[in-house]
Amino acid sequence: MRIINSVREMAEASRKFREDGLTVGLVPTMGSLHDGHLSLVRLARKENSVNVLSIFVNPAQFGPGEDLDRYPRDLEGDTAKCRREDVDVVFAPDPADVYSPGFGTYVDVEGVSGVLCGASRPGHFRGVATVVSKLFNMVRPHRAYFGQKDYQQTVVIRKMVKDLDMDVEVAVGPTVREPDGLAMSSRNAYLKPDERMAATKIYRALASAKSMRESGETAADALLNKVRDMLREEQTLRLEYASLVDPDDLHELKNAVGKSVLAVAVRVGSTRLIDNIVI
Ligand code: PAJ
Repeated sequence: MRIINSVREMAEASRKFREDGLTVGLVPTMGSLHDGHLSLVRLARKENSVNVLSIFVNPAQFGPGEDLDRYPRDLEGDTAKCRREDVDVVFAPDPADVYSPGFGTYVDVEGVSGVLCGASRPGHFRGVATVVSKLFNMVRPHRAYFGQKDYQQTVVIRKMVKDLDMDVEVAVGPTVREPDGLAMSSRNAYLKPDERMAATKIYRALASAKSMRESGETAADALLNKVRDMLREEQTLRLEYASLVDPDDLHELKNAVGKSVLAVAVRVGSTRLIDNIVI
């Protein structure tokens, strides 16, 4: 396994992979790897001759007052996990190498970036789209892998790839959960024991709404009220939003007649968690 820290070295390695006729899969991450990340590595490994996992805590996607400084970092643990998963290249560039002095070009994906998480995190998806397009340019992957856990992110990336004619196939892997249903997230490490217990309510609420839909309820209000009521039962949870949206363009739905996505953001103490379910 190669560990590459320099942008130039990554670009050279990628050029060589392509010259040699190899296909390249990229899993972009911010590190502190868990099984959700590793499930994407397993997908990438199946479909490509070379798999690259990037680790970069991207300052551009954190707003003022967000958790950039305390975001968990564990490069040593992460590289050990990557070795066990047969990752070919860990690409962990330095922030100063990614955003060199005078940097000033951003990718703004209009519409889908402004709703749901984008409403309370202005600039977040601009930071995500910018770093992902930079990673695409550095690694030049044939395929890139993202998790359904961050549903809105997958919509933003797909739209960016389409609008900017990027020659990358975007693949989305299912959300990997803890045995009690909580979606795996690097931010789960922030939770105190009582918060961790309360957080299990998030998936239970989503699953209850889904089973209501399966029993015939289609009204968004009824499904969302179910989620709101269940989350209110836990003192430490504060709902930021619960929305039923169209899976392709994220516009709000009044009815869950076709495929739809129920997405939530919840504050658990000082930690912000997101989850969603396709219904
Ligand atoms: P990060 O939160 O580290 O997640 C990296 C990738 O792993 C994302 O595609 C995310 O959706 C996926 N992922 C996280 N938890 C998951 C889970 N429980 N099940 C399945 N997949 C999961 O998302 C980011 O980093 C950043 O925004 C990034 C795309 C790297 C740009 O900086």
